[in-house]
Amino acid sequence: MSHNILTGKKGLITGALNENSIAWKTAVKAVEEGAEIVLTNTAVAIRMGEITQLADQLHTIVIPADATSVEDLENLVDKAQEYFGGKLDFVLHSVGMSPNLRKGKPYTDVSYEYFQKTLDISALSYHKLLQTLYKKDALNEWASVVALTYIAADRAMPGYGDMADAKAVLQSITRNFGLIYGREKHVRVNTVSQSPTRTTAGSGIAGMADMLDYTDNVSPLGNADADDCAEYLVTLFSDYTRKITMQNLYNDGGYSSLLPIMDI
Ligand SMILES: NC(=O)c1ccc[n+]([C@@H]2O[C@H](COP(=O)([O-])OP(=O)(O)OC[C@H]3O[C@@H](n4cnc5c(N)ncnc54)[C@H](O)[C@@H]3O)[C@@H](O)[C@H]2O)c1
Repeated sequence: MSHNILTGKKGLITGALNENSIAWKTAVKAVEEGAEIVLTNTAVAIRMGEITQLADQLHTIVIPADATSVEDLENLVDKAQEYFGGKLDFVLHSVGMSPNLRKGKPYTDVSYEYFQKTLDISALSYHKLLQTLYKKDALNEWASVVALTYIAADRAMPGYGDMADAKAVLQSITRNFGLIYGREKHVRVNTVSQSPTRTTAGSGIAGMADMLDYTDNVSPLGNADADDCAEYLVTLFSDYTRKITMQNLYNDGGYSSLLPIMDI
């Protein structure tokens, strides 16, 4: 079902790896809602994943960029504007990875080299992307930029390791960049805090399957899945949410408002 709420809008979507990716579902939904989009991911992910099939399906292009490289991001923003013949209206940051989690390193025995990579890939990349867009004046007035986060940034929980710290930084960047970009250009900057979701990134987290079942059981509306997330994101890209900025917005079936007690 489409309401054409993104008709005429042009957007950049990072992080679509395969059809389970939140970014994949969002790209499909954004186009259904009338947007034109460009896709990006790392050169390796483009080679190993299925993003080129998505680009074919949506009649668009994929521009390779490592989200930790300012040079790549500058090229990405230039190429996206060239493709559209103008500025962008929305951007999705859907990038995350922790080498510590990947290698099964517990929070009490992290590699600090990996920790820095976690922060760079999962948090600083958002600042780098925003700073590149800002310096190049690549966003239209009232544009919307959204990154994805997780509740472990706000409440301690086992298993999420250094990603919890990276997500806390991501949410802080959202407020600080949102303040400047809102005042100067009326650009909105938010994070969406998503339920545990079955994706490649999600499966790298120890205990994820149990967490997913638990939150699905206790959340009044059950977990939000990747499709639910895509539907929420397109509303945030649309003109119906023009005064929402600097927020961390939960898309989690109500889980974040519960006390952690057993059912009584
Ligand atoms: N899956 C969950 O349970 C869940 C919950 C809350 C938030 N999130 C967040 O949602 C976002 C998307 O993840 P997903 O669950 O769709 O998984 P996913 O694995 O499909 O997407 C993660 C993407 O990050 C990309 N990426 C990794 N390193 C990169 C780099 N250096 N430069 C550019 N791209 C890079 C990967 O190629 C991949 O496309 C992430 O920020 C993740 O932390 C996921």
